[in-house]
Amino acid sequence: MSSRGRFITLEGGEGVGKSTNLAWVADHLMHRGLEVVRTREPGGTPRAEAIRGLLLDPTGEEPLDADAELLLVFAARAQHLARVVRPALERGAWVVCDRFTDATFAYQGGGRGIPPGRIAELEAFVQRGLQPDLTLLLDMPMEAAQHRLEGRLDRDGGTRDRFERERSDFFEAVRGAYLARAAEAPQRIAVVDADRPLAAVQAELASLLDDCLESWG
Ligand SMILES: Nc1ncnc2c1ncn2[C@@H]1O[C@H](COP(=O)(O)OP(=O)(O)OP(=O)(O)O)[C@@H](O)[C@H]1O
Ligand SMILES: [Mg+2]
Repeated sequence: MSSRGRFITLEGGEGVGKSTNLAWVADHLMHRGLEVVRTREPGGTPRAEAIRGLLLDPTGEEPLDADAELLLVFAARAQHLARVVRPALERGAWVVCDRFTDATFAYQGGGRGIPPGRIAELEAFVQRGLQPDLTLLLDMPMEAAQHRLEGRLDRDGGTRDRFERERSDFFEAVRGAYLARAAEAPQRIAVVDADRPLAAVQAELASLLDDCLESWG
C-alpha cells in the first residue's frame, strides 16, 4: 500500500456551503488520526493568493479576457500544486481543498464558454495526471444559494467579488457544467444535495468519507 496521502476537493457554486463544510471535513478526518492540510483555490500560497486577488477584484476599467482568466487560474494552480499539494501528499498528509479543476470546467468552461478540450490540455500540462481521489460536489438551486450568500454578506459586511457579480444565467451554466462533470466521473465525484439543514449534509459527507477511508485502507 502506498503511503501517499489522499486529495479531497469540495466543489459547487457560490454560497452552497463549501467553506463551512471544508472545515467540518478537515475536523472529521483529523478525529480519525490523519494529518490534514486545509487549503483553497485559486490560492493556497502567498503568490497564488496574489493571483486570486487579480481574478476576484471587481474594480478597474479593464475587463479580464477569458483566456487570460483561464491561464491565471492554472498559473495559481501550478504554484499551489508545487508548493503545497504535492509535498503534502508525498509526506502522507491528506489535502482538503476548497475548489480545484472541476471549478475551472464549471466557471471558465460552463460560465465563460471556453471549450472543455482547451481546459483539459492545461489540466494535463499542469497536473501531470494528478486528480483528486474524491470530490464532494455540493449542489443546490442557484436562487437558494444566492439567498444564503446574501445572508452572509448582510452579517459579515463585505462586497461581491468579480464572479459573484455575474448574472443568473452564468450561475445556471456553472451548475450545469458541474453536474455534467459529475456524470462523466461518477466514481470520483459525489453529488451531495446541499439544500438541506447542515446536519443532514454533514451526515452524508461523514458516510461518504468513512466509505472511502474503508475502501482505501
Ligand atoms: N446547509 C446549510 N443550511 C443553511 N445555511 C448554510 C448551510 N451551509 C452553509 N450555510 C450558510 O450559508 C452561507 C454560505 O456558506 P459558505 O460560506 O460555507 O459557502 P461557500 O460555498 O463557501 O460560498 P463561496 O462560494 O462564497 O465561497 C454561510 O452563511 C453559511 O453559514
Ligand atoms: Mg467559501
